[in-house]
Amino acid sequence: MRQPVALAHACRLINHGPTVLVSSEHDGQRNVMAAAWSMPVEFTPPRVAVVIDKSTFTRELVLASGRFALNIPCRAIADLAYTVGSTSGRDEDKFARYGIAPFAGAALALPLIEGCVAWLECRRIAEPHSEQAYDTFFGEVVAAEADARVFAGGRWAFDDGNADLHTLHHLGGGNFGVVDATIQSHVMKGRS
Ligand SMILES: Cc1cc2nc3c(=O)[nH]c(=O)nc-3n(C[C@H](O)[C@H](O)[C@H](O)COP(=O)(O)O)c2cc1C
Repeated sequence: MRQPVALAHACRLINHGPTVLVSSEHDGQRNVMAAAWSMPVEFTPPRVAVVIDKSTFTRELVLASGRFALNIPCRAIADLAYTVGSTSGRDEDKFARYGIAPFAGAALALPLIEGCVAWLECRRIAEPHSEQAYDTFFGEVVAAEADARVFAGGRWAFDDGNADLHTLHHLGGGNFGVVDATIQSHVMKGRS
């Protein structure tokens, strides 16, 4: 059910603050970690920020390769999201250890995670100061896809029928919130 997402809509995939899985690859080594801290920072071209701690193996691969992907996991793979955020790829290949099926991203050939509901391939924008001082990485989104069962027409569509595909919002200690209900708001007319 993967469908391309227009770059103009790519930032909407993380606008609501889901936990993401940062996947990376360099010179035959691949990895994936969880990140609760990511956000859009610019519209055109779409740019994102993600915090990748200095202790992580992911940081090494992103610095070496100049690219990373944000995969957006869902309720059905919450255990996997927590697991890849609790173990390091420096010790073992998490893809092999946890049976993660990757597929190659169309734009940057990054390992993307099957079972997620959206994918953003990003080229790192080198910002040595923020990377050193704050662990914050910036990336330009060069391709995006989403599962059409839950993201279509440039917006998320969460309902009871696709509950397993709802995104994860980290509350701490492996406890995630998921969207239970959505409301449609309207612009008010005002008094005069
Ligand atoms: C739900 C969750 C969210 C996390 N968010 C972040 C984050 O935003 N930034 C970060 O650097 N680490 C975050 N972590 C921790 C990393 O995922 C963790 O250090 C991981 O083991 C690093 O893997 P690596 O060494 O294979 O790159 C998070 C962990 C979990 C479980």
